Amino acid sequence: MAIEPSAPASPGFPDTPCVPAGDWQALHQAVATCQRCALAKTRRNVVIGRGNPKARLLIIGEAPGEQEDLQGQPFVGKAGQLLENMLAAAGINSEQEVYICNVIKCRPPGNRNPAADEIAHCQDYLRWQIDTLQPHLIVALGRFAAHTLLQSQVAISSLRRQVHQAHGVPLLVTFHPAYLLRSPAEKAKAWQDWCQVRSLLASSN
Ligand code: URA
Repeated sequence: MAIEPSAPASPGFPDTPCVPAGDWQALHQAVATCQRCALAKTRRNVVIGRGNPKARLLIIGEAPGEQEDLQGQPFVGKAGQLLENMLAAAGINSEQEVYICNVIKCRPPGNRNPAADEIAHCQDYLRWQIDTLQPHLIVALGRFAAHTLLQSQVAISSLRRQVHQAHGVPLLVTFHPAYLLRSPAEKAKAWQDWCQVRSLLASSN
């Protein structure tokens, strides 16, 4: 059964593909040599994504942190560990069933928030990933991912629990794991969200 979106959205992505469709090597080459914004000067590594490129679930975070910048992989620090724990608790195998990436592919210095121009310059890489992966479901972690994908400024607490749509793909919003590390009382709500992810995935075969 297909997952039906309950709220339409206009994702507002650029129309021009950044690299040929489906060519992961070309995407990696384009991002690794990207000089579109000032983050190219301070990054140690670009962080493109990890997981199964055939996964039905695409998880999108905000931006690489220090560990991710060092290792060139998304969600490998403390927030990543919490994300892995939540996926495992929800019975979702992160290596086989998930592809994980971020809205922006380079670390903002000092883990500051991504700037609007940095998000804009990176959007067609993210769009390429969504188009190529063709996931059945996207989970947006936190406000930057949700606001970028939904072109909305609505608070996460109001965006949760609804099936939105981004670029033709059903999308759920949940708290960013870094926020949950700072606000553990919200973990119970995040657990509800991951249970919804699991049941939507189960119904999308
Ligand atoms: N936070 C994110 O949003 N992405 C990462 O890859 C790591 C931490």
